[in-house]
Amino acid sequence: MANFFPRWTNLLPLKIAVCILTVGVGVISAFTYYATPKAQRIGYQPDQPIDYDHSFHAGELGIDCRYCHSGVDKSAKAGLPTANTCWNCHQHVQKGSDKLGPLRAAMGVDKDHVPIEGAEKKPIEWVRIHKTPDYAYFDHSAHVNRGVSCKSCHGDIHKMEKVHHDKSLSMEFCLECHRNPEKHLRPLEEVYNLDYNAEDYLQANEVLDEKGERITTQEDFGLLLKHNWNVYPKDSCSTCHR
Ligand code: HEC
Ligand code: HEC
Ligand code: HEC
Ligand code: HEC
Ligand code: HEC
Repeated sequence: MANFFPRWTNLLPLKIAVCILTVGVGVISAFTYYATPKAQRIGYQPDQPIDYDHSFHAGELGIDCRYCHSGVDKSAKAGLPTANTCWNCHQHVQKGSDKLGPLRAAMGVDKDHVPIEGAEKKPIEWVRIHKTPDYAYFDHSAHVNRGVSCKSCHGDIHKMEKVHHDKSLSMEFCLECHRNPEKHLRPLEEVYNLDYNAEDYLQANEVLDEKGERITTQEDFGLLLKHNWNVYPKDSCSTCHR
């Protein structure tokens, strides 16, 4: 009697098993590759050469973000302060502090602020915390000049003694806001005020919608600003992958 099934069918169950396994492994590695690194970067908090404290300088003292991150409203990069920026104050304040050794080294002076002869002024090597991959394009000024606060992407920096990576800043995170910016938009003069609260603002300032009714929520306020300023963030691939 002829064999009903051709010989190759004996291998079919094995092939199916191999396929399932391959897809399974593929899915798991894709998940680990794409999902885990982003989840892990939340909370990333490297040691810095100086224990610089945002909660004190930006919070308590109230120094504006732009004093040190001066590129933020002008260019793609926010930028970090040079030693000279710190020196404006620290040539007078906490002169001999042990914590400020790398600052004095960058200025080429000793503990008594006497210039060290022939000193090689080494810039302070801050450790980078947030980094978008090269294949994606990001621009700070396009955001902060359109009413998006640092807080939406970096969290409560003004309360951090030591900066950590607060949001995933993944593609999904970017798109979530590009599709619903009204949840985030605020008046331009409040962008650097990380304590801003829409409800409080709307209680202190009367803002009316087109029908002349008072606006009380972030969402309605955001929609009004979006409309008035004609803010329409794009979500086509070429917006961020150029
Ligand atoms: C007096 C200077 C100064 C002021 C004011 C200041 N910063 Fe910074 N900022 C720094 C320095 C120095 C670093 C690098 C060391 C660190 O991470 O703490 C930094 C780091 C950061 C980083 C992380 C950069 C990275 O590596 O990814 C963010 C985000 C940031 N600052 C946001 C803010 C915001 C928001 C404000 C205003 C609320 C602000 N900063 C005010 C000096 C300042
Ligand atoms: C506007 C003035 C100002 C600027 C600019 C400034 N600081 Fe300060 N800083 C202060 C004051 C005021 C104190 C608190 C002094 C005290 O507690 O006696 C302080 C305290 C510190 C301390 C704690 C010192 C200790 O021994 O307790 C460190 C570290 C420090 N600053 C680092 C920096 C760095 C780094 C920069 C630049 C990125 C910077 N500061 C910029 C005013 C400033
Ligand atoms: C829409 C999201 C978003 C907003 C709003 C935002 N940032 Fe950023 N920030 C990022 C991303 C993404 C990176 C990483 C950028 C890169 O790798 O080029 C970054 C990096 C930084 C860095 C380190 C690298 C650099 O650009 O020099 C600093 C400092 C910083 N941000 C400060 C600020 C401050 C201060 C504000 C508010 C005035 C702010 N950011 C608002 C998303 C944002
Ligand atoms: C909290 C809201 C928000 C988040 C988060 C956000 N964006 Fe945007 N983005 C905007 C707004 C608002 C605009 C301005 C749209 C306009 O001008 O009509 C914009 C504009 C842009 C532009 C256009 C800039 C230009 O030069 O025209 C790029 C590129 C961009 N975003 C990239 C990103 C990337 C990459 C991320 C994530 C790392 C991100 N955005 C996260 C709200 C956001
Ligand atoms: C608003 C900005 C923005 C838009 C629009 C956008 N991307 Fe992305 N994309 C990013 C950012 C930022 C990353 C890097 C994410 C990270 O570092 O976690 C990324 C990463 C990626 C990756 C790498 C895998 C991953 O998920 O991290 C691929 C693939 C990709 N994008 C494809 C696309 C395609 C296709 C489109 C259009 C449908 C698109 N992107 C639209 C911002 C954007």
